Amino acid sequence: MSQLSTRHLLGIKDLTEADIQFILETAENFKEVINRPIKKVPSLRDITIANIFFENSTRTRLSFELAEKRLSADVVNFSSSNSSVKKGETLVDTVNNILSMKVDMVVMRHSSPGAPHFLARNVKANIVNAGDGTHEHPTQALLDAFSMREKLGDLQGKKIAIIGDILHSRVALSNIFCLQKLGAEVMVCGPITLLPKHIERLGVKVELDVRKALAWCDVANVLRIQLERQQIKYFPSLREYSLYYGINKKMLEELDKEIVVMHPGPINRGVELASDVADSDHAIILQQVENGVAVRMAVLYLLAAVKA
Ligand code: CP
Repeated sequence: MSQLSTRHLLGIKDLTEADIQFILETAENFKEVINRPIKKVPSLRDITIANIFFENSTRTRLSFELAEKRLSADVVNFSSSNSSVKKGETLVDTVNNILSMKVDMVVMRHSSPGAPHFLARNVKANIVNAGDGTHEHPTQALLDAFSMREKLGDLQGKKIAIIGDILHSRVALSNIFCLQKLGAEVMVCGPITLLPKHIERLGVKVELDVRKALAWCDVANVLRIQLERQQIKYFPSLREYSLYYGINKKMLEELDKEIVVMHPGPINRGVELASDVADSDHAIILQQVENGVAVRMAVLYLLAAVKA
């Protein structure tokens, strides 16, 4: 494959399996680069990238910025909280103003599902979705798949359980699309109120009992309870959620096999994961974060190469 089938990364849904394989293979090369004493390559020396974040972020924002700098791109960062968006400027006007300063690519996180798709239709730049509301978080799914492959090899036939607040999660949907395209079997597990209606139509298994999900899977990708997106109560209390769905070391020790535990972060320690799991050898949470830089380097490098 010589180039990606798209000039934007809006969601995993739009990628082909070949695109995903191409990104993951390219990321392997960049992982080697970022572990060298000199971690920089000149690949995007002539490219300027704007990171525009309308929602809070630690990992994704810093990871994109590091990826861009490791590729020698020029970088500008925009945060809505101290911008002229507060004075009523529209999204398209804001981005067109940024682009008129000779910016080539936009990485955007936004609370509205579909915001990056809208932008891609209305401005002239490569758009990378860094998370749009409850919809998709494609680079998270790519770095998750990369991290799973590092641990388990080819994902064909591997069993991945996504556990927790599936209803409010953009990580869940992107993971489901990505893992299925790579041939894995996917299960979602959580309280019935936190599972989207008809989710089984996506071809996933549905399980309400977290112990059964752990017994089934090779990898448990555990998601945060997203209280900031919950306008009503979906379960009686965090204590009760933790009691029924929280994963602790004893539960892993009761399994007759070793499983890999993942979490996209930020973790609510003591809610979905006990510290004795989050900090254990089962967990590859910090490896996921490390891999995020290499995967985002691959995404930016390959998108920049796509001919319009
Ligand atoms: N995983 C993730 O998206 O984390 P941030 O919200 O900190 O970027």
